[in-house]
Amino acid sequence: MTIADRLRGSVPAAALLPLRFFLGGMFLYAGLDKLLDPVFLRSDGPGSIAFQLQEFARVSPLAPLVTIFAEPFPVLVGFGIALLEIAIGLGAILGLLYRWSALAGAGLSILFFLTASWTTRPYYLGPDLPYALGWITLAAAGAGGVLTVEGWLARREARLAVRQPQWQGASRWEDPADPGRRAVLQLGVLAAASVGVATLGRAMARSAPAPTAAAAGASPSPGGSPTPGATAQPSPSTVAGASPSPEAAATAGVDGTLLGTLDQLPVGQAGRFQVQSSGDPAIIVRLPDGSVAAFDAVCTHEGCTVGYDPGSGLLLCPCHGAAFDPAHHAEVVGGPTNRPLPELPIKVDQATGRIYLQA
Ligand code: FES
Repeated sequence: MTIADRLRGSVPAAALLPLRFFLGGMFLYAGLDKLLDPVFLRSDGPGSIAFQLQEFARVSPLAPLVTIFAEPFPVLVGFGIALLEIAIGLGAILGLLYRWSALAGAGLSILFFLTASWTTRPYYLGPDLPYALGWITLAAAGAGGVLTVEGWLARREARLAVRQPQWQGASRWEDPADPGRRAVLQLGVLAAASVGVATLGRAMARSAPAPTAAAAGASPSPGGSPTPGATAQPSPSTVAGASPSPEAAATAGVDGTLLGTLDQLPVGQAGRFQVQSSGDPAIIVRLPDGSVAAFDAVCTHEGCTVGYDPGSGLLLCPCHGAAFDPAHHAEVVGGPTNRPLPELPIKVDQATGRIYLQA
């Protein structure tokens, strides 16, 4: 029977192919993305799995489980999630242990819903519930033997069994048509392929250049992907005087650390600098009324780095679309968090126009 015959004879499975390849591709990408991310598999810092677990332990209904079973081993948990996502993605795309892969995808998506997406408001903006329902659909429908390795194995072994009747009556581990033997074989192939892909991902991550401070923390969550429409634009230039100049060093301790002057930060523009004490990226904004406000740029959802969007005048997070209003102490105006960005104390010397970050 040709592939076209099988497609014709299995319309529901064929109709689900786009969903199957989308979900499989997304999970494969999400797993690889975590392994390639320069900060995700760190035991602390913005954007790391440790940072995200701390947030989950604060807001998730699974907080006690997160605290006991995940927080003590953040890197192991992060690596395990990435590996599982890769295995689920490969299982769906290749059709290996297909229904089990889809069920695992549903379980992981529900776990992400109860942790990463739990604070998303309104709830329908969170991506993990639709993912869970998509996986449940695939698990219920099955692949119908369409473009699956397990279907190919079953057909091949059925042919072998017909041609070689000596298998009849053999032990289950010798009989190529035995479903248990086939499942173990598929599990072995899937595990080997997943570990191979993960090893390749880590090797690529190690050979990549070290991240810059601005790039650190801009990574998707365990369950999430960048939200469509989240178009945070980092400001075009670093803030004037972001690196304290010799002059700034001379004034530090009196008025604070010199960041620049009002002339260098036009109304409606923003710039970046780094908070020396915490190492966090920070952002400074010249508001429409001419005043200046500065904030820690680490998103209070899961630690990505926010950017300033001159069009809306908001600070936007590229990971899951959190939006903060710099004109109102970075209060949350959208997205999956309910905590504003920490505001940093700024002093402007009106006589000279100098902007200082106070201690
Ligand atoms: S990290 Fe999720 S919205 Fe910012």
